[in-house]
Amino acid sequence: MLLLVVFLQALSVTLCIETAPYTVVNNAETYEERIYPAQKWVTTSHLSISHNQASNDMFHDLFNFIDGQNDAGIKVDMTAPVTVLVQPGEGPNCENNFTMSFYVPAAHQDAPPKPLNTNVYIEERPELHVFSRRFHGFAQDVDWIFNADALAQDLLADGVEDINLQHYYTAGYDSPFVIFNRTNEVWIMKK
Ligand SMILES: *[C@@H]1O[C@H](CO)[C@@H](O)[C@H](O)[C@H]1NC(C)=O
Ligand SMILES: *[C@@H]1O[C@H](CO)[C@@H](O)[C@H](O)[C@H]1NC(C)=O
Repeated sequence: MLLLVVFLQALSVTLCIETAPYTVVNNAETYEERIYPAQKWVTTSHLSISHNQASNDMFHDLFNFIDGQNDAGIKVDMTAPVTVLVQPGEGPNCENNFTMSFYVPAAHQDAPPKPLNTNVYIEERPELHVFSRRFHGFAQDVDWIFNADALAQDLLADGVEDINLQHYYTAGYDSPFVIFNRTNEVWIMKK
């Protein structure tokens, strides 16, 4: 039964949800190098100590946008991944600045509806060149940090130059309600 649930969840991720387009530039043993073309994302930021605490609040605001809290009053399909840009220690009390985004589906890329919540905005994200490391499970704050660090170590060991070690992205592929075998990634940006 448990295996069936896990299997169905894996299917829902791969088959049912539109994902942000990208091309794979290189496949290494522990990471993948990708280019995401310039696209629009819907975005909000939060200062916090904790990734997971900030994520709950930001997910709520972005979910309301796709649920109709926009100037067209329309529902927008959920997409994957949900990215969070982590900018450590940027707040006045050294909180981290977390910036969460949902990819705007292709059908709305040209003219996305405008968010009514003034904390939420449409981000024109330029082309993004990243190195991505994947891991599974229910990620706690320490898991994001552990994997970002492991990815940085692997990139440095491979002699990859011109990487941004100040900021990184986390990417989640499951709704907050999925419990088993969640798919997560950390992305380190090429400068
Ligand atoms: C947090 O980061 C976002 C995205 O880079 C930026 O727009 C926002 O101004 C930052 N907030 C603070 C308080 O630094
Ligand atoms: C978790 O999901 C990945 C695919 O996303 C799969 O390769 C892996 O076998 C799954 N693990 C378990 C324990 O089901």
